[in-house]
Amino acid sequence: MLGSAAMFGRKPLAYVGKIAIVTGGASGIGRALAIELARRGASVVVCDRDGEGARAVADEVRREGDAWAEELDVRDLTAFESVVARTALRSGRVDLLFNNAGIGVGGEADGYAPADWDDVFDVNLRGVANGVQSVYRQMIAQRSGHIVNTASVLGLLPVPGNTSYTATKHAVVGLSRSLRVEAETHGVRVSVLCPGAVWTPILAGGRFGHSGYDGLREETIKKMWSALRPISPEALASKALDAVARDEAVIVVPGFWRAVWLADKLAPSAMLRIYALLLRRTRKDLAAAGATRAARRARRNGGHDGVDETGTSVRARRPMSN
Ligand SMILES: NC(=O)c1ccc[n+]([C@@H]2O[C@H](COP(=O)([O-])OP(=O)(O)OC[C@H]3O[C@@H](n4cnc5c(N)ncnc54)[C@H](O)[C@@H]3O)[C@@H](O)[C@H]2O)c1
Repeated sequence: MLGSAAMFGRKPLAYVGKIAIVTGGASGIGRALAIELARRGASVVVCDRDGEGARAVADEVRREGDAWAEELDVRDLTAFESVVARTALRSGRVDLLFNNAGIGVGGEADGYAPADWDDVFDVNLRGVANGVQSVYRQMIAQRSGHIVNTASVLGLLPVPGNTSYTATKHAVVGLSRSLRVEAETHGVRVSVLCPGAVWTPILAGGRFGHSGYDGLREETIKKMWSALRPISPEALASKALDAVARDEAVIVVPGFWRAVWLADKLAPSAMLRIYALLLRRTRKDLAAAGATRAARRARRNGGHDGVDETGTSVRARRPMSN
């Protein structure tokens, strides 16, 4: 089997014996990455804010190889540093960090509560920065290692209706490409993973985010996302790990999004007109599906993580060490 993989140009040994930390490992893309890493011979630390979920996935991963679980909220720098320190102590090094945990906050910006900005910035951007802060010096000391930050194709394109999320993913792309150049001189690799749509719970808001709308039925959500041809997390993980082994800087999966990215770079004004058309269509589809804006409800009732009963951000009161 190894021989046949080699014949098709893969690097079957790239992950054998490697120590990999995966955040957001309890679900979706993180879970698929953890399983595929173990299949390819890596030992995996499955981390998630959902500790029970992380332990369940670590049990699954152990069917393929070596794994253990850590309950980790990536917003907590001290906790992140402890996970890296424990991993280095146990295994002698950290070869790979998949900075993958993320949340989605959907809806248009005029419906946001203050926490709609804070929640998504804290997890999707500060969480990635915390990961870099925790592992980078360890990797520099080793003179080896690979940090893989999960952004999105929304980190390459403007996407109305997802403004706060899109802002964080653009920031993660910029962070990763800049750091890649610095890190190279230390023997450390940095890549950014930009998936298109992938069938995971985040498409409906996920456990710690929200879609921005009430009254959206699962079948409506599925129908709307189907237009973007979502792939399975397993297919994404397999292609992503091939590209990480090749040390690609910006990993875009599925590949057709590269053409959209190129069109955006070549004809940004024309593309903005297309996004405006798509926004109008999305508004019509949502209205036809009976969806109402959820953030307004969140303002009154504290409907999601990070919002108190008055709809005010509780960011300042969170136990965060950074
Ligand atoms: N699914 C897609 O279509 C898609 C597309 C592009 C990018 N992404 C990105 O991929 C990454 C993984 O998302 P997914 O699709 O697997 O979603 P998911 O909701 O299935 O999984 C996200 C995981 O992150 C965990 N998490 C959330 N907040 C956390 C925190 N503060 N600390 C630690 N863990 C936390 C959740 O518990 C969950 O297990 C995210 O960064 C997301 O933005 C997803």
